[in-house]
Amino acid sequence: MNASPSRKLIIAIDGPAGVGKSTIASRLARKLGYANLESGAMYRALALKAIEKDISFDDEAALDMLAKNSRIELEPTSTGNRVLLDGRDVSQRVRETDVTAGASRVSVHPKVRVWMVARQQEMGAGGGVVMEGRDIGTKVFPRADVKIFLDADPVVREQRRLQQRSLSGTAAEATAAELRERDYRDRTRAVSPLTAAADALTIDSTALSEDEVLHRVEEMVQQKLLALG
Ligand code: DC
Repeated sequence: MNASPSRKLIIAIDGPAGVGKSTIASRLARKLGYANLESGAMYRALALKAIEKDISFDDEAALDMLAKNSRIELEPTSTGNRVLLDGRDVSQRVRETDVTAGASRVSVHPKVRVWMVARQQEMGAGGGVVMEGRDIGTKVFPRADVKIFLDADPVVREQRRLQQRSLSGTAAEATAAELRERDYRDRTRAVSPLTAAADALTIDSTALSEDEVLHRVEEMVQQKLLALG
């Protein structure tokens, strides 16, 4: 696929946990020569800082202050985003269970979201980005050039996540329960709940391979590039 170098699109990919957003977003970004930005990693970095500073995930005012006094940077690499918290590489740590659950909890607060959305808008403003998350097409870039909402049957998402991490037994049960809980919270929170933008293309990947999903997304991008001329 040849992206016109003069057109640096903003591509938004939203969807629930375990749907394969990161893989699709990073493969697409590589093909286009774009930056892949994992917005969820920023919520994870804030949750990690809250853990380290012993700040409650429920204390919106303290979390807002914490965010405002933090430097959270994403550096796209071929194997996902490098996450820097105040200059420290926390890429591995932010994937751990306590931070994962914390990210979903800090993300319910409107003030935290205002800060995050502003940073994400700055990062993507120049275009040439594939940004993935929960509210990219609805709030961060409501005028994104291409909007994809990736979805899949919850049971299939659970299975994929467990396979990806080679989990079985009690560890698998705990991870599946965590995924369900996070899903519920992300979809039902009062502010910017996970939902497809009205003008997003929804792709249900339940019965599709990763290559098939990528192919559909690429077709959309190609159509957009052609339309823009
Ligand atoms: O994409 P992820 O699993 O790394 O996201 C971690 C949490 O961050 C997710 O449970 C909800 C929150 N999040 C969000 O509220 N908005 C985003 N754009 C991205 C993530």
